[in-house]
Amino acid sequence: MLKTGTTITRRGLGAILAAGLLATGLAACGNSDTGSDGGDDGKIVLGFSQIGAESGWRTANTNSIKESAAAAGIELKFDDAQGKQENQIKAIRNFIQQKVDVIAFSPIKESGWDTVLKEAKDAKIPVILTDRAVDSADKSLYKSFLGSDFVKEGRLAGEWLVEQKKTATGPVNIVELQGTTGSAPAIDRKEGFATAIAANPNLKIVASQSGDFTRAGGKQVMEQFLKANPKIDVLFAHNDDMGLGALEAITAAGKVPGKDITIITIDAVKDGMQALADGKFNFIAECSPLLGDQLMDLVKKVKAGEEVPARVETQEGTFTQEQAKAALPTRKY
Ligand code: AHR
Repeated sequence: MLKTGTTITRRGLGAILAAGLLATGLAACGNSDTGSDGGDDGKIVLGFSQIGAESGWRTANTNSIKESAAAAGIELKFDDAQGKQENQIKAIRNFIQQKVDVIAFSPIKESGWDTVLKEAKDAKIPVILTDRAVDSADKSLYKSFLGSDFVKEGRLAGEWLVEQKKTATGPVNIVELQGTTGSAPAIDRKEGFATAIAANPNLKIVASQSGDFTRAGGKQVMEQFLKANPKIDVLFAHNDDMGLGALEAITAAGKVPGKDITIITIDAVKDGMQALADGKFNFIAECSPLLGDQLMDLVKKVKAGEEVPARVETQEGTFTQEQAKAALPTRKY
């Protein structure tokens, strides 16, 4: 730092600039594997773009990532995109500018990522997808995907229903609350469920609409379903939160959730498990939000230039009402 009043000669100024350029050049060489400046204290710097806080699942996922980063000694730059893809793209561009070591994000939708992923690749910053996939044809744009098999979750939900209704002689009317339009879990869960229920032609989806993975959305769309469909036997909600919102609409319509209408959801967060244990939900296919530890592991490996699997899937189960009662006391989220 120059003292106030110090006079710099032209030659002196040249020397200072040259030294600065040399220092910048050396820093760039030292990080040529990732193009990163690294943290001030030598810590790995991870830029993470989260979708928002639309559900209990998302809150648990955010907590998991923050806690695991702290435990792993990784400096986390966390951005909440508040449910907007353009904010996620902006956050990723900021991470590139800040030269973080690794970028991870949970893409709100499947499409529209190629340009920004290419920018990260050109800047030599490895990207890890967490929770949701993208539909980019060029798989070299990211190092790994960490998350659930959403098609399987939908299939497990559908298979349970097929088993429950195997003796049904007439039509079983199903309404479906889809997740965010264009998102991987909405697309895949719909597909898995439809494939499974095709085993019984009595099982028919009579209405299907997005409730955007939120309680408010679930309530509002369920109200419309109830008005338009005099006979609803089953609700399949793509997450607990929409199912919980729908409970309010069902009760307000004078029906008993879990009895008059069979309710199947996905996630198994605490509030959903409570509704299941209380007999208001009938079945939940689990989707684990606890991705933090596995993500930090992948971050360390990609930063070290190690090979990582293209896909890392989380282990998940399913819950009946009895199983929810048993699991609730030790449920972490
Ligand atoms: O992508 C995972 C899904 O997103 C969860 O099932 C849902 O609750 C969340 O909002």
